[in-house]
Amino acid sequence: MAKVRTVHRCSDCGATALRWSGKCPTCGEWNTLVEEAEAPAATLERLPAGPLTVPQLLGEVDLSTAAARSTGIGELDRVLGGGLVPGSVTLVGGEPGIGKSTLLLQALSEMAANGHRCLLVSAEESAQQVRLRAERLPAGLPAHLWILAETDMPSVVVAIDHLDPTVVVIDSIQTVYDAESTGTAGSVTQVRACAGALVSIAKQHGIAVVLVGHVTKDGALAGPRQLEHVVDTVLSFEGDRHHALRLLRAVKHRFGATGELGIFEMTETGLVGVPDAGALLLHDRRDGVSGSVVVPAMEGHRPVLVEVQALIASGESNNARRSAQGLDSSRLGVILAVIEERLKRPLDNKDVYASAVGGVRITEPAGDLAIGLAVLSALTGTPLPPGVVAFGEVGLGGEVRQAGQTAQRLAEAARLGFTSAVVPASSPDGPPSMKLIKVHSLLEAARALGLGAPSR
Ligand code: TYD
Ligand code: MG
Repeated sequence: MAKVRTVHRCSDCGATALRWSGKCPTCGEWNTLVEEAEAPAATLERLPAGPLTVPQLLGEVDLSTAAARSTGIGELDRVLGGGLVPGSVTLVGGEPGIGKSTLLLQALSEMAANGHRCLLVSAEESAQQVRLRAERLPAGLPAHLWILAETDMPSVVVAIDHLDPTVVVIDSIQTVYDAESTGTAGSVTQVRACAGALVSIAKQHGIAVVLVGHVTKDGALAGPRQLEHVVDTVLSFEGDRHHALRLLRAVKHRFGATGELGIFEMTETGLVGVPDAGALLLHDRRDGVSGSVVVPAMEGHRPVLVEVQALIASGESNNARRSAQGLDSSRLGVILAVIEERLKRPLDNKDVYASAVGGVRITEPAGDLAIGLAVLSALTGTPLPPGVVAFGEVGLGGEVRQAGQTAQRLAEAARLGFTSAVVPASSPDGPPSMKLIKVHSLLEAARALGLGAPSR
């Protein structure tokens, strides 16, 4: 019998190495190489397995079947740009316990209640557990919702063939298993093989397939990171398990924009959409505390008011800490450098902690001014006057530059009761109730808000 050749595959990046080593030679992760049997080389000297597909004139492609179908969950539809597209594959990633199963069970229940044939393949929870959960959800137990508690991939494929559903959810892609393939459930090869089979089912039958994937703490999809280019859409479900707020965003989306944010609250009866997030994110904010600035950030097409906080602590000499949560750490670095070099406020030996509150991430440059002002407010121990928001990009010269969607940001801030806004000098006027403090530089903004010399 021929000896089975083995390779060592990295469970993180999926690259193979002939010899085992502690560190993956491709991505540099430690202890990720796992030995597995080498798959036989694929050959092209064979006929297609399925029906032959022939080229079609682009102008004759039928668009009527490609329309997205509403999931019945407003915030999910918002992120998907309307709903699930037939024949598409969507990966929903998130940490264990964040609410992926709940979200998708709710979507399936709503879709089933709207007459779609829906199948939930539960490879983690028993059919009884799922039924109990579904009974507590708002949609209750709809007709047209089937469940298959199964981990064996061939059985899943047969069930999908028989049922011919509109939508299939696989919960999760890391727990289904194909005995034909090597590796244990959840390994890179297994996840790839199972996802590959599901992608071809989706395309062949025009079924919308949703894969649930657990992610590791560092944000990478455990094992199936490389699934991201196999699927059409990658959604990331985030939030702090200890708080009720849950954020859904598209990391990749073949059928629409990726900027939209879906906001949910986890309640006793499942996830409830929060179309008006403004007030929610500022719920626990207190006026009169130094180091706190509110920024009207854009999350996709919708303005969301987010509190940016900074805290300065005296650190160890030569070993100052810089911590950015929900903010881009390299942008924070640039803003701190501007504060030191252009505003001549030394931060040496000081630890700087900065964060966006509520699990939101502010990555747009428009957040710069608020971050800079929060640091200066913390540094001087001076709170901002009440009712102020700030936004604008800060350049390396300390200048404040125009940010997009000024009108929307100002309108949302005004709607939530804010009365003045620190904005780039070139900004157009806002609503009448909003007093604009137009500034050319971070220094000018600091002076306008009374963030003078540091209190020592
Ligand atoms: P779940 O959807 O199982 O998370 P995941 O599939 O991402 O691992 O959600 C788990 C948590 O949600 C669990 O701690 C219980 C909580 N939960 C509620 O608070 N309300 C509910 O109605 C449901 C169904 C779950
Ligand atoms: Mg789950």
